[in-house]
Order: sequence, then structure tokens, then C-alpha cells
Amino acid sequence: MKDFNRIPRIEITHAPTPLEFAPRLSEELGCNLYIKRDDCTGLAGGGNKTRKLEYLLADAQQQGADILVTIGGLQSNHARQTAAAAAKFGFDCELVLGDVAGTPKADYYGNGNLLLDGLLGARIHRLELGEDRGVYAENLIDKLIGEGRKPYLIPIGGSSAIGSLGYVRCANEILQQISSQDIAIDQIVLATDSAGTQAGLLAGFIAAEVDLPVLGIAVSRNGKEQTQLVDVLLRQTLTQLGLDPDQAGGRVVANGNYYGEGYGITTEAMIIAVKRCAKLEGLLLDPVYTGKAMAGLMDLCAQGVIAAGSNQLFLHTGGSTGLFAYREVF
Ligand SMILES: Cc1ncc(COP(=O)(O)O)c(C=O)c1O
Repeated sequence: MKDFNRIPRIEITHAPTPLEFAPRLSEELGCNLYIKRDDCTGLAGGGNKTRKLEYLLADAQQQGADILVTIGGLQSNHARQTAAAAAKFGFDCELVLGDVAGTPKADYYGNGNLLLDGLLGARIHRLELGEDRGVYAENLIDKLIGEGRKPYLIPIGGSSAIGSLGYVRCANEILQQISSQDIAIDQIVLATDSAGTQAGLLAGFIAAEVDLPVLGIAVSRNGKEQTQLVDVLLRQTLTQLGLDPDQAGGRVVANGNYYGEGYGITTEAMIIAVKRCAKLEGLLLDPVYTGKAMAGLMDLCAQGVIAAGSNQLFLHTGGSTGLFAYREVF
């Protein structure tokens, strides 16, 4: 394995983020629930993208880039954190954001993450439903190059083998915390979509030779497709670390039973999960990712698939700024 600490990185995250026990939720669910607070990574509302951006921005700096371009939905948490990181480290930032069918609309076009993107100084390219964000971004990159700029394209969700390194780092942070707090974790549960968070965590555990199960709850596709997506990125991340990609074999588990009708479209179970966490623990989840993941965790506990009395670690990947775009459903 390569020397992980020599991989270029800019320090942004307020790390280590807390690892907290959630006593009132644990009592309701019948398992011991610990929450890794990556909603508290510190960058303009926090969230999981901060850790990925530490490596992506270092790469952008090495390549001499002066402008960051990224892609997402209109209420993308990744876009908001990219805009914040760009501001902090002196890059310009262009966000290619697509509308999402089926989402509540009263505040979707001006509040939540989108409000903050503007405040953070990003230039927003708002695409209509059905417009191809990838093609738009490629044309934008060509235009910027033509104007003499040096753009750096960050893939959707910051999920590349470089971005995932942020969660390799987090895996080590978790291992240190569970060791120093003397907790035996049986499983990690998290929301998974563009795959970098789950792939990075698994790569980190494989590198540390730790066999800790990581259950991804998919928020936009079925379990089989999500598993394949994470598996591909896990293999790329292991290669990036100088490890054998075949160590990925069988490690990815993704459950596609909780995303409802699609990305960003609310489910009753998500709304209940968000309200329960707020009322029982003073904990703010989000409507698109962590709310659906927590709804999955709650249901799996109720069904007995997650064993009573087991120790579960929920990775809170952030996104609560998105609640303001979903006002009418709460
Ligand atoms: C709040 C939140 N949780 C989870 C995820 C999913 O992480 P990943 O895209 O790395 O799978 C995202 C991605 O946008 C997110 O914003």
C-alpha cells in the first residue's frame, strides 16, 4: 500500500467529528445506536463532501486549476460544499444543477442549498428537467478553456477514486474512536448514492484489515445497481491506494428498498424518521439522503433484520440545509 499520509490533501474538515451515543433513539429501536456526526464537518453547514473535497482540491491545486466546475441536483449538498471550499481556497466556482422531477416545489428553487450556493459566490447554471448535465458541463469546460481559464471538473457527488480517499481517512478516524471509546460496532449504516462515501469507508477498512460490515441504503436506485456502482468505485479506490482491487469481492452491501419513487422524492417513512430523530435526539437529518437511510435502519430494526441489542453506527452524512427546500412536507 502507498503511504496514505503522503497523498496530497488540504485540511478542511473539523476532525475528528464526534461519535455520539443516541440513548432515546436506541431505546425506541431496541439496538444501541451510535451516530458519527459528519454533518459537523464544519464547512458551510457541513456534510460528507467536505472530506472528499480535501483531496479533490489538493488535486485541483496541483493541476494549476483556477475554477471548479461540478454537477448535481438543484438542492445538491455536494454543490454547496464545493462552492464553500472554492470560496475558502480562492477558486471560482460554476455549478451545473438540474431540476429533479417529483420534488416539492414551494421553496425548491430559492431556498435551502440553492440559497447558500449564491451566498457562497458560485455561478449557477440552472438546467431544465431532462437537460443533460454531463453534456452541459463538458461544453462549459470547453468554453472556459477557450477563455484561457483552467477548469477542474469535480464529478457528481465528488465520487472518484481521489474523492473517496476522504472516507478512507474517515474509516481510520472511526476505528480510532471505537477503540478509544471501547465500543464494539456490529455494523455501519449510511445513505449511499454516488458511491464515494461507502466505497471510501470500505477501502479504509480493507486497508486496515478490519472486517466491519457497511450497509448502504440507496436513495435513488435498486440494491443491485447501487451495489455494482459502489463495487466499481471501491475497486478503483483500492487501486489508487496501491492495493489489490479484488479485495473488494463481496464487501459491498446496498439495500434498495427505501428510496421510494426516486431521488429526492419524499416517502412517508422518511418524514417519520426525520421527525423522530428531531424530537427524540434534537438531531436534524435531511429529506433526500439521511432521512431515507434512517427510515431504512428503523424498519430493519422493527423487522428484526437488525438484531435487538446489537451496536449500530449510523454515519450522519449531513444535508439538513435541504430541509428548508422541503418546508411543505414537514
Ligand atoms: C447528505 C448526503 N448524504 C449522503 C450522500 C451520499 O453520498 P455518496 O454520494 O458518496 O454516496 C450525499 C451525496 O450527495 C449527501 O449529500
